Amino acid sequence: MQKTFTLRNFEPSDLEQVMQINRLCLPENYTSFFFLDLYQKYPLTFIVAEEKNKIAGYIMCRIEVGLPNLGRLGLTRKGHVVSIAVLPQYRRKGIGQALMVQALKNMEKYKAKECFLEVRVSNTPAINLYKKLGFTVVRTIHSYYVDGEDAYVMARKLPLETFWENKLFES
Ligand SMILES: CC(C)(COP(=O)(O)OP(=O)(O)OC[C@H]1O[C@@H](n2cnc3c(N)ncnc32)[C@H](O)[C@@H]1OP(=O)(O)O)[C@@H](O)C(=O)NCCC(=O)NCCS
Repeated sequence: MQKTFTLRNFEPSDLEQVMQINRLCLPENYTSFFFLDLYQKYPLTFIVAEEKNKIAGYIMCRIEVGLPNLGRLGLTRKGHVVSIAVLPQYRRKGIGQALMVQALKNMEKYKAKECFLEVRVSNTPAINLYKKLGFTVVRTIHSYYVDGEDAYVMARKLPLETFWENKLFES
């Protein structure tokens, strides 16, 4: 597949476009303060995909310290995917996967030892994306979303295999 997009770190001037994508693609929406706060604290894991100077998708993450989801003892540093979305007209071109791979790589720079996220149990496209990248379901949180839907918590260990890293730079 020919790569038609580029990835770069989020900049505050992208805020309006990113918030618009978030509103269009997901029921979970946030204030501008929330977006900018995550950008200021974890700039390397707030990434946008651009096609012809238009933002097609974004990923926004946080680094947390807490109990591990996967096979470790004690406290661990975890990358948390807070939000990821690709505009409908840009989907199935590898953008979601590329955003995830780049964010997982950059979480390592924050010394994260695993990555986790919540996903609606009905969200097959996203669940498939995460499974493709080596995530597994570690538990279900009942009525996690405001409409009552359950969430899967999915997680994978870091670092990411170099196989994925190489894929990122294929054109
Ligand atoms: C989930 C989402 C980010 C995927 O973005 P995308 O750019 O279309 O994904 P990619 O093209 O990189 O697809 C990568 C893999 O994801 C899976 N996938 C993506 N879309 C899928 C679909 N409609 N049905 C089934 N699997 C799908 C496939 O495994 C795919 O690999 P493949 O192309 O080799 O089959 C996108 O569908 C989206 O923005 N959805 C709305 C927002 C959302 O649900 N965010 C996640 C919240 S947890």
